[in-house]
Amino acid sequence: MDNPFTIISYISPEYFCNRKEETKRLSDSLNNGKNIVLLSLRRMGKTGLIKHLFYSYRSKRNIHTFYLDIMNTHSAEDFVNELAKAVLGSFNSKSKQFFDNVLKFLSKFNPIITLDPITGIPSVEIKPHSTEHAKSSITEIFSYLEEQDKKIIIAIDEFQQIINYDENGFEAFLRSHIQHLKNVNFIFSGSQQHILTAMFSSYSRPFYQSSEFLKLERISKEDYAIFIMKKFHQTGKNISKEIVNDLLEWADLYTYYIQTMFNKLWYISGAIITQKDSDNTKRQLIDERDSIYQNLNNLLPKVQYELLRAIAKNNGISKPLSKKFRDKYDLATTSTISTALKILKVKELIYHENNTYKIYDVFMAKWLEEN
Ligand SMILES: Nc1ncnc2c1ncn2[C@@H]1O[C@H](COP(=O)(O)OP(=O)(O)OP(=O)(O)O)[C@@H](O)[C@H]1O
Ligand SMILES: [Mg+2]
Repeated sequence: MDNPFTIISYISPEYFCNRKEETKRLSDSLNNGKNIVLLSLRRMGKTGLIKHLFYSYRSKRNIHTFYLDIMNTHSAEDFVNELAKAVLGSFNSKSKQFFDNVLKFLSKFNPIITLDPITGIPSVEIKPHSTEHAKSSITEIFSYLEEQDKKIIIAIDEFQQIINYDENGFEAFLRSHIQHLKNVNFIFSGSQQHILTAMFSSYSRPFYQSSEFLKLERISKEDYAIFIMKKFHQTGKNISKEIVNDLLEWADLYTYYIQTMFNKLWYISGAIITQKDSDNTKRQLIDERDSIYQNLNNLLPKVQYELLRAIAKNNGISKPLSKKFRDKYDLATTSTISTALKILKVKELIYHENNTYKIYDVFMAKWLEEN
């Protein structure tokens, strides 16, 4: 029997917990011709939400959706390649004609097209010979999409990456094209919230006030508990509300860690989930990662490591520079701590939200507490 707790990618609504309001907000904005910026902490469920929304459009003949992740792109050339891949790759059987047209259109970029031998799904690669060529290709692809008598939604995941591109002005270039598109709308998604917020809300930036914002928060404990109990029940297992709630709190209601935890609990347990199963799950999740976490001590300078550990032991901290906190954990001077905080944030080991600094990786926090 399939494990009902997915930890890799989106499968279908059955495996997806809630997000009803967020899905509705996304689709309302897009249906009304708005672009939307989707933000959250890492691993909270942005990509899942986009895929969930797109899944609901699968049967709609008049809407086409494209998803591209630009995390690993470094230039306009890479971007256009991802865009072309997304445009061709998201083809599904609902419109053979659209696919044929796209293929015909893309053929002028000398694409390398390969068919997956097993799934038969085509994939395409285009390699522009210069930035100018890449930019003109993007222009052409957008105009091509604009000509379609369908609504088109393009999700660009990890959108903040465009500010790291080799060439200057890509942000302005993209904006100047996007703003004229009428039947094409965008979801710009990412976890670098400060960068994205600055891109879309600073007066001097090209994307200023061009989109609405949606911040993805934690799923409520009640909703997650109902989902989890239902999944155990549907697969012939029985779990008490107390165990579920305890584990949800232990995982700080954090989507990725919850999924990982219940995925494990589900397969290590029998028909009735006991307190011992729950304890074993917690233990294993920490122990399995022991060698990785042991290494933190070598990878981080002492000040950063000590601060990280103090934040873990304190279960988060709102005033890390306070004398009380520094004395309690025997930490260095305020200026050293202040620098270390910034670096730990850049390294995505901690985040700052609701006035509190917390460790990103829930299992790492538990390990640090114990060590
Ligand atoms: N509502 C949900 N119900 C069940 N599982 C979910 C839900 N949302 C996300 N997940 C799962 O949680 C994990 C993390 O989600 P996802 O990858 O969507 O987060 P993300 O915010 O895009 O992360 P990153 O910042 O790393 O890109 C994935 O395994 C995903 O399948
Ligand atoms: Mg993601």
